[in-house]
Amino acid sequence: MTQPSAQSSAQSIEELTHQASEELDRITDLESLDQWRISYLGRRGSLTNILRGLSQLDLEQRRQLGALGNQAKNLLVERLAEKTRQIKQAQQSEYFSRDRIDVTLPGRPAPIGRLHPTTQIVKEITDVFVAMGFSIVEGPEVEWDHYNFEMLNIPEGHPARDMWNTLWIDYRDEQGQQPMLLRTHTSPMQARVMESTQPPVRVVVPGKCYRYEATDPTHEWHFYQIEGLAVDEGITFANLKGTLFEFARRLFGEERKVRFRCDYFPFVEPGVDMSIDCFSCPGGDANCRICRGSGWIEIMGAGMVHPRVLSGVGYDTEKYTGFAFGIGPERVAMLKYGIDDIRHFYTNDLRFLRQF
Ligand code: FA5
Repeated sequence: MTQPSAQSSAQSIEELTHQASEELDRITDLESLDQWRISYLGRRGSLTNILRGLSQLDLEQRRQLGALGNQAKNLLVERLAEKTRQIKQAQQSEYFSRDRIDVTLPGRPAPIGRLHPTTQIVKEITDVFVAMGFSIVEGPEVEWDHYNFEMLNIPEGHPARDMWNTLWIDYRDEQGQQPMLLRTHTSPMQARVMESTQPPVRVVVPGKCYRYEATDPTHEWHFYQIEGLAVDEGITFANLKGTLFEFARRLFGEERKVRFRCDYFPFVEPGVDMSIDCFSCPGGDANCRICRGSGWIEIMGAGMVHPRVLSGVGYDTEKYTGFAFGIGPERVAMLKYGIDDIRHFYTNDLRFLRQF
């Protein structure tokens, strides 16, 4: 193998530096830049090879050419760094010049949810009663037959059970009875509240109810109710009427007409239902989808708490009397806002929901 002469090594270093610089000038992307680095400065790169070959020269020549070689290497390393910076900068300005980010644009508003119309009306109704001195309590949606019927003076086999066809839970006790159901109304909370409190009682109970029934513009198979219960010494039917008239006046305004009619619920005596005049027709229009010509829409059942319900929870029926009511809030919202079909509430159509 021929020894490299000092002169030829110096020439090779200069030529190589020149050639590497020219190639570097033409490079425009980072991938080619990395290949360039490997081919000149890598472990087997051309400049590295020349520098390695200097070890065969004598000491003085090695010193001179070593300095020249290191100078060339430093120069190429510096130029590599500068070129890397230039290419990255060019890529960035190209990215921004495509208008991907306009930092002067105002931010896009994040969509904000809202309360469901039923939640809103439940709050509105309970607020009216809270202002009259009632407190709010809640109870289970899955209920025992015992509370949904028995404690409300509706024993097994009582024909009134037919008024509340419900959905039963697939559970049987030791006697083979099916005592668990989705509550048909919020009235079971009357017994639950009285069992755990002594009079005076003044509560409202908002919550969901379920019934096995065909749907139509005023009937859903799941809907809300707001139960009300007031028990104390000396409560009369006049208190019931006064409270419910005042509720209707605060919620609907002075001009809306209110009607009480006798009705039957086994857990009250006497029992009534309360209706509001139809918003959709002046009354008597047999084709009206809402009132079917009656001119009235029923929004609640009510009455004086039956003495059997009071004695069932251990209250002294000689001392205490009370009234109870069960309001359908969706029907109230229909009246208040002129909604012509209760099924709109639970079909999740945003065109409907966004109006509230
Ligand atoms: C009851 O459920 C009794 N628990 C109410 C009650 C409470 C009476 C306390 C006396 C004392 P009723 O089935 O009528 O009663 O329902 C009461 C209200 O719930 C109705 O006036 C109506 O506004 C609403 N409601 C009843 N069934 C439905 C239904 N399928 N869809 C929507 N709302 C309903």
